[in-house]
Amino acid sequence: MTQNSSQSAKLTLPNGKEILLPIKQATIGQDVIDITALFKESGMFTFDPGFLSTASCESKITYIDGEKGILQHGGYSIEELARKSQYLEVAYLLLNCELPTYLQYQDFVSNIKNNMLVHEQINILFRGFPRKAHPMAIMVGAVASLSAFYHETMDVATPEGRMDVVYKIIAKMPTLAAMAYKYSIGEPIIYPKHDLGFAENFLHMLFAKPTATYKVSPTIAKAMEMIFVLHADHEQNASTSTVRLAGSSGANPFACIGAGISSLWGPAHGGANEEVIEMLQEIGSKERIFEFIKRAKDKNDPFRLMGFGHRVYKNYDPRASVLKKSCDEVLHELGIVDPLLDIAIELERIALNDEYFISRKLFPNVDFYSGIIYKALGIPTNLFTVIFAIARSAGWISQWKEMIDDEAFKIGRPRQLYTGHVKRDYLEIAKRQILK
Ligand SMILES: CC(C)(COP(=O)(O)OP(=O)(O)OC[C@H]1O[C@@H](n2cnc3c(N)ncnc32)[C@H](O)[C@@H]1OP(=O)(O)O)[C@@H](O)C(=O)NCCC(=O)NCCS
Repeated sequence: MTQNSSQSAKLTLPNGKEILLPIKQATIGQDVIDITALFKESGMFTFDPGFLSTASCESKITYIDGEKGILQHGGYSIEELARKSQYLEVAYLLLNCELPTYLQYQDFVSNIKNNMLVHEQINILFRGFPRKAHPMAIMVGAVASLSAFYHETMDVATPEGRMDVVYKIIAKMPTLAAMAYKYSIGEPIIYPKHDLGFAENFLHMLFAKPTATYKVSPTIAKAMEMIFVLHADHEQNASTSTVRLAGSSGANPFACIGAGISSLWGPAHGGANEEVIEMLQEIGSKERIFEFIKRAKDKNDPFRLMGFGHRVYKNYDPRASVLKKSCDEVLHELGIVDPLLDIAIELERIALNDEYFISRKLFPNVDFYSGIIYKALGIPTNLFTVIFAIARSAGWISQWKEMIDDEAFKIGRPRQLYTGHVKRDYLEIAKRQILK
């Protein structure tokens, strides 16, 4: 769908030479200047640490307009998908850029269900981790370890082989996540069940015990399904770009997803949901909000308002709007009164009226309200980012597949601006001195 427009950008080099760089058109959103020929023509690279102005790939999966607060998958708005879709329908949409028909959906769901079990040997792997290990640390290892189980049999050279990887990733992530949780609390592992929905099955594996019948609350299952939908993909964020970059060398995709989980864990990314709850608990009462706002604005204090700000959204994150509304509904339906919600709402109100946050266009992001819902659903704090990882697995693997499906994909290999020493002679150790 990318159109090579007849337009181009003219660049004048320091030596006066002019080069024309083609402009590629987006269907919506920003067009890009194609600089692939720049080095050959000019002998120079571009410099863009943090990718502030760089599109790292072409994609048809997800569209974000950060200024307007719009998020769409395959053209469908996140608000509508969150309201109407099941997570696996959205996963299908990410993979195919079309919503499935009834039969396509049944087939997709059955392929996922047939892959939910993990190799029994993985139980032994879990036993090697300390019980107190953070579940995200275990997820990094456990998901990457799938590469050891499927490396020989996997065939990513065929579309069927790639789909087999897709099914395995999406299906096994909740199983491994629930196993990590059960291991951490010393309870027996609960196996997945075919007759349950995706979110329902995860909750079952998390909370059921072999000694009693466990019925998943429909309210909780519905909320979890919506949370999975909201987190399913977010175009070229840090963890997704990590998966693409790792996969661009032809690396085993299960190992690449392990790399994505590592990236997601950071507090500037998916790890923020855990930190938001810790921050709200530390604030403790509405009276202390100003003190924390003051700290967030102080450049000498490393504290940041967690769950606020976003590289792309310079407006309300549409996922945060859905979650804020859902927070109210879920707490009401479950009959829970959580003072943290009141603190969060007041914190948001004060921040959105503060010049510091207004001028920097800092709004609540997806992580601001999600933790309060997780807490209401009975999810322990250290599992918050794991849930994000389960949901994002559909996005990661869709983006990996989109890259691999394109036979012309290249290994990702950024360049650098070198500012270190120029060539010098080796100095014997006895002659070296500490430079002042
Ligand atoms: C998400 C995030 C990493 C985006 O970072 P970024 O695009 O590189 O933006 P910057 O860090 O350059 O921030 C721009 C300005 O806003 C400030 N800022 C950004 N987020 C802030 C926050 N949460 N609290 C206080 N100030 C913040 C920065 O200090 C900077 O101020 P300056 O221009 O005076 O130096 C950043 O907003 C953040 O750390 N947020 C908190 C963590 C979080 O919620 N992450 C989840 C993201 S979904």
